[in-house]
Amino acid sequence: MNIVHISAECYPAAKAGGLGDVVGALPKYQALLGHKTSVVMPFYHNKFRNENHFESIFTGKAKLGWHNYTFNVLVPQGLDLGYELCMIDIPGLFDRPDIYSYDDDTERFITFQVATINWMNMQDTVPDVVHCHDGQTGFIPFFMNKIKDYERLKDIKTIYTIHNGQYQGQFDWDKLHYLPPFHSFFNGILDWDNAINPVACAIKSVDKVTTVSPSYMEEVQYSMGGLEKLLQIERGKCTGILNGIDNDIWNPATDTMLEKKYLARTLVSGKRANKDWLCNVYGLDKEKPLFVFIGRLAIEKGADILPQAIYYAFAKLGREFNILVLGSGDKDIEGGLLHLEHQLKGNYCSYIGYNEKLSHTMYAGADFLLMPSRVEPCGLNQLYALRYGTVPVVRRTGGLRDTVIDIGDGGFGICHDQCTAGDVIYSIERGLQLYQDQKRFSKIRKEIMQIDHSWTKAASDYIELYTK
Ligand code: ADP
Ligand code: GLC
Repeated sequence: MNIVHISAECYPAAKAGGLGDVVGALPKYQALLGHKTSVVMPFYHNKFRNENHFESIFTGKAKLGWHNYTFNVLVPQGLDLGYELCMIDIPGLFDRPDIYSYDDDTERFITFQVATINWMNMQDTVPDVVHCHDGQTGFIPFFMNKIKDYERLKDIKTIYTIHNGQYQGQFDWDKLHYLPPFHSFFNGILDWDNAINPVACAIKSVDKVTTVSPSYMEEVQYSMGGLEKLLQIERGKCTGILNGIDNDIWNPATDTMLEKKYLARTLVSGKRANKDWLCNVYGLDKEKPLFVFIGRLAIEKGADILPQAIYYAFAKLGREFNILVLGSGDKDIEGGLLHLEHQLKGNYCSYIGYNEKLSHTMYAGADFLLMPSRVEPCGLNQLYALRYGTVPVVRRTGGLRDTVIDIGDGGFGICHDQCTAGDVIYSIERGLQLYQDQKRFSKIRKEIMQIDHSWTKAASDYIELYTK
C-alpha cells in the first residue's frame, strides 16, 4: 500500500508532544511491514531546518481567500527516517520557530492543507490511503471528497486519528472564503455548533476514525468538547488503536541522551547514575526516592493541581522523597511551580521549558513518574517510563487506564481515580511504601522494562483497518 500521513508535527522535524512522536514512528513501522509510507508536514524555521539540507521537489501556488501563496515542497537530504518526509514551505506563514499558538493559526493550517492537496493532485501517482492527524489536517478528506478540482483524489481511502479532541480549531463562518470553492450544498459537513469545525468536518468526511486508545474512544462518546453527539452518530466507523513507542529511540540500552545506558540486568547501576546526575544538577538528595512529572503544563494533564499536591505531599508525608518537574505551558501553573522552589529547597525543583535530553534522563533516573491527567487520549510518557524501569503513578483515564495496572490488582503501577491533590498525595504515599520494599520494587522495575509496547502491533492494526 502507498500510505501518506499528514500532520502538523513529526519527530525529529517538529514536536510539541506525543503527536510528533507518533507521526515520527508509525510510518517507519508501517514501512517495515512492506508498505510505502510518507509524511507531509509544514516546514518550520526551527532547529531541524537549521541543521539539515533540503532539496525542493515541487513549487506550486495555494490560495487563501484573495491571497496567493507560493509554496515549495522540500525533502531533507541524507537522512534515513525509514519513510519519506515532505515538508511544505510557505513563506509568510510558516517561516517562524514554533508549531502553534500564533494568532493566524487558522490561516496557516488552512493554507498548509490547500498547498498539500494541490501538490497531491499534481503528482503522477496517487496514494491508496491518506491518514490525517488532528484538526490541523481535518479539511483534507473533505477537499478530496467534495471539491471538483480534486476529483482525481476522490476514491482514495481516508483515515482521521483524534490524538486530542480538546483542540478543535473551529472558526467563524465569515472565513468560509479561505477554503477552495465548493457547492454550498456541502456547507453542513463543515458545520458544528454554528462554526466551521475542522475536527467535525474530518469525522463526517472520512472512511474511518480512530482514537489513540480504546478507552479514549469510549470517553469521547460522552465528553469531547461538544462533539460527543457526532461521535455517537459516527460510532460505526470509529476504532480505538493504542499507540506504540519507537523502541529504537526510547531504549535505555542505546539512548545516547542518557548519562549512563543500561539493560534490565544492569538497571540498578544504570538508573543510579542517571539519578545521581539529576540530583547533582537540581540540588536533590540522591538517597531519597525521586518522583518526576514531565509534560505540558495544561489543565488536561492535571498540572494545575501539582503546586498544591506537591506542597501538601511534603507537609503530610515529610521530606523523605524528592520531586522534579519538567514542563511548560500555562503561565499560572509555571508560576505556582516555581514559587514552591524556595520553600521546598533540597526536595523539589522544576525546569520550566522544553528539554528533550533532560526528559530522557528523567525517565531513566526517576523512581516514579506522576501523571495525574484529567484527559489522556493515550499518553506516551507512562510507556517511556515503563521501558526505562520507572513506576508510573497515574489517574485512571483514557490510555492510562489501558496501559497501567495497579500493584493492588497484581500489576506494576499505582493508579488513582480522581484528579485531585488528595488522590495524588495518597498515591505518593503508596509509592513510598512500595519503595521501602526494595525487593518487590526492584522486581517490578525489571519486569516493566520487558513489557512490549513497540509499534509493531499497532502498525499492523492500522494496516488491517486500511485494508478494510
Ligand atoms: P501530549 O502529546 O498530550 O503532550 P504524550 O504523553 O502523548 O502527551 O506525549 C508527550 C511527549 O512530549 C513525550 O515524548 C514527552 O517526553 C514530551 N514532553 C512533554 N513536555 C516536555 C518537555 N517540557 N520537555 C521535553 N519533552 C517533553
Ligand atoms: C495527544 C494526547 C496524548 C497522546 C498523543 C499521541 O497529544 O494528549 O495522550 O499520547 O496525542 O497520540
